Amino acid sequence: MRIDSGIPCAPWAPPLLRWAGSKRKLLPLLMAYSPSEFKRYVEPFAGSACLFFALRPRQAILGDINAELLETYSTVRSHPRLVARKARSWNSSRTHYYAIRRRVPQELQPVERAARFVYLNRRCFNGVYRTNRRGAFNVPRGVRTGRFPDERTFYRCSVALRGTEFRSGDFENCLSDVRKGDFVYLDPPYSVTRPRFGEYGYGCFGDPDLERLAACLKRIDSVGATFLVSYSDSGEFRDLIQEWNCITLRVRRHVAGFARHRATVSEILASNKVLNKAGS
Ligand SMILES: C[S@@+](CC[C@H](N)C(=O)[O-])C[C@H]1O[C@@H](n2cnc3c(N)ncnc32)[C@H](O)[C@@H]1O
Repeated sequence: MRIDSGIPCAPWAPPLLRWAGSKRKLLPLLMAYSPSEFKRYVEPFAGSACLFFALRPRQAILGDINAELLETYSTVRSHPRLVARKARSWNSSRTHYYAIRRRVPQELQPVERAARFVYLNRRCFNGVYRTNRRGAFNVPRGVRTGRFPDERTFYRCSVALRGTEFRSGDFENCLSDVRKGDFVYLDPPYSVTRPRFGEYGYGCFGDPDLERLAACLKRIDSVGATFLVSYSDSGEFRDLIQEWNCITLRVRRHVAGFARHRATVSEILASNKVLNKAGS
């Protein structure tokens, strides 16, 4: 089955962050193919977690290899207004952006560290998170970065995160205790064959990880949980998911993070359940 993803987006609660590779444009489809009932929501490659914020599950586990991202969510959950006020107190000028970027996160208090993360994410080039070899964020300032989230958005994010456990690290750690009735949404980055200076840091997901991912899908299925996985349409991925149900989507994407380079690419959505839109 081939589906065009150009469905107009309903006004979902916006995620707090921009994220390279975000599935925001696919949300209507992802929601339609998510089970209407599940016990716990698990997302091991969270990023901006746009499906999580749209579904607002009562109980969830969010994981990501980016520990600073998850720490930011945790601090926003506890202190949404303090983080919002701090982040909103910094203006968008070039001087300010590079001054905030130069601050060393480990030397800041949690609220200021989270505010810095959100500020840089919203003001940088295309929501890319990239660090140098020493782990320092090095993305340049963006130009058309849109409106900065208001205090209410931080507060809504905090409410949505109330029943969430955070697990930073590799995806297998987040999936270690998936159980019957859980719904797991997996959105790994496109694999790279050699470690490189990518959108999420140095080579954090490569070809060998696809095999581990496939083993995880089997395990999720065997415990009686449901998974939905999205990935670029490639021979390697098709080989790994041939036993599952899948559909192909046509998606407009930025190429290498550049807004002026857009292309229509194919992505695959696979699941251990029949891919019927919820309610149909
Ligand atoms: C395509 S993005 C997810 C985007 C997300 N679905 C959204 O809507 O914003 C992939 C995420 O996987 C994370 N990641 C990369 N390698 C990982 C690994 N081995 N284990 C867990 N997370 C990883 C990256 O930090 C990034 O946030």
